[in-house]
Amino acid sequence: MSLSSDTIVGVIGAGAMGSGIAQVAAAAGHRVVLADARTGATEAARANLGLTLEKLVEKGKLDRNDADRLIGRVDYQWEPLRTDFSAYARCGLVIEAIVEDLDAKQDLLRRLEAVVARDTVLATNTSSLPVASLASACAVPERVVGLHFFNPAPILPLVEVVPWLGGDPIVASSSYALMREWKKTPVLASDSPGFIVNRVARPFYGEAIRLLEEGVADIATIDWAMTEYGKFRMGPFELMDFIGNDVNFAVTRSVFTSMFYDPRYKPSLTQARMVDAGFLGRKTGRGYYDYRAGAVRPAAKKDPAVGLLIFERILAMLINEAVDAVLMRVASPEDIDLAMTKGVNYPKGLLAWANEIGPARVLGWLERLQQEYGEDRYRASPLLRRMVRDEQRFFA
Ligand code: NAI
Repeated sequence: MSLSSDTIVGVIGAGAMGSGIAQVAAAAGHRVVLADARTGATEAARANLGLTLEKLVEKGKLDRNDADRLIGRVDYQWEPLRTDFSAYARCGLVIEAIVEDLDAKQDLLRRLEAVVARDTVLATNTSSLPVASLASACAVPERVVGLHFFNPAPILPLVEVVPWLGGDPIVASSSYALMREWKKTPVLASDSPGFIVNRVARPFYGEAIRLLEEGVADIATIDWAMTEYGKFRMGPFELMDFIGNDVNFAVTRSVFTSMFYDPRYKPSLTQARMVDAGFLGRKTGRGYYDYRAGAVRPAAKKDPAVGLLIFERILAMLINEAVDAVLMRVASPEDIDLAMTKGVNYPKGLLAWANEIGPARVLGWLERLQQEYGEDRYRASPLLRRMVRDEQRFFA
């Protein structure tokens, strides 16, 4: 198989991700086929893309002719996609971005395989399902690969390329090369729970909630500490409200169960109750913060001693997770740092941050936490201990 600018790219699912991925592929010069099972979904996707491009033209960032050509390259299927997959027969690459459900995705891949050429690459944008379990539904499983984009796909450059156990290495390498051609930042991630970003970022949320639960500080103060001392663009609670507490909780639960209940990823009751209450964040007008008209934002209590304690505790957990991901070969150190800066806009790569602070200091923070709590949650990665012992740094 070969993926080139002539490859016709199929995208299935015209929701948030699929419509964004279709835009990225069309912007890179591909002809694109986009369909959805829901009536009206492709119409909405086309209208949205039209508005997005119009804004870019108005701002002088895109030439009108280029915008027209871009949208003209997308072949929107107006008929809901149910049983007739023939529009995808010409595609050399098909990326599925449908609902996150194993049965639905397996069923879709089976139907798709019946129409596409034998060497068509089948990619999944799944966030939480093992690529292996999707490939296992296929007659030619070697051609399946994970291509995990971030939301919004046209803006966030990161794509986690996820080969699976039985995947053809050429499928992964040509998908990786194609993502480069699309001006994306591809990283290679193992077919493991949460891949890189959704695994390494867990403590940003989990440890922040734990600090809240213990009464160390309130949400506004924790958010302030992370933006003030860590220079994160958003604090953990603001970010969870933005992502949606239901979505964030689902990712946490999925990583926890897929990791066979490793206590490091344990979800919190606080987050469960937020979801139970329907306090999902911005989209429901209420989350950790109140977004309803007239609501007043609580003020942070800007005590530097508390702020630094919060920042150091969350950062130590994040660095530990990144170091452990290196140990467990989830990805290379370079790709782990790229993933966190390009996929979730961290101000620095966590491993570069560890170098800056010094692995011994990070280990000290973790050991104090583990001593105090006696919980496995705070156990330091064996690689962090080894680095301290051998006086090593990352990227040296
Ligand atoms: P969404 O709900 O916005 O869109 C999914 C679309 O798929 C809907 O329009 C739905 O009608 C359609 N669909 C469902 N079943 C279908 C089927 N059998 N055939 C054709 N179309 C079907 O969901 P979203 O957020 O775009 O997520 C899609 C995928 O991308 C999921 O696997 C999700 O885990 C993954 N993902 C989501 C991210 C996010 O931040 N929203 C980030 C990265 C990956």
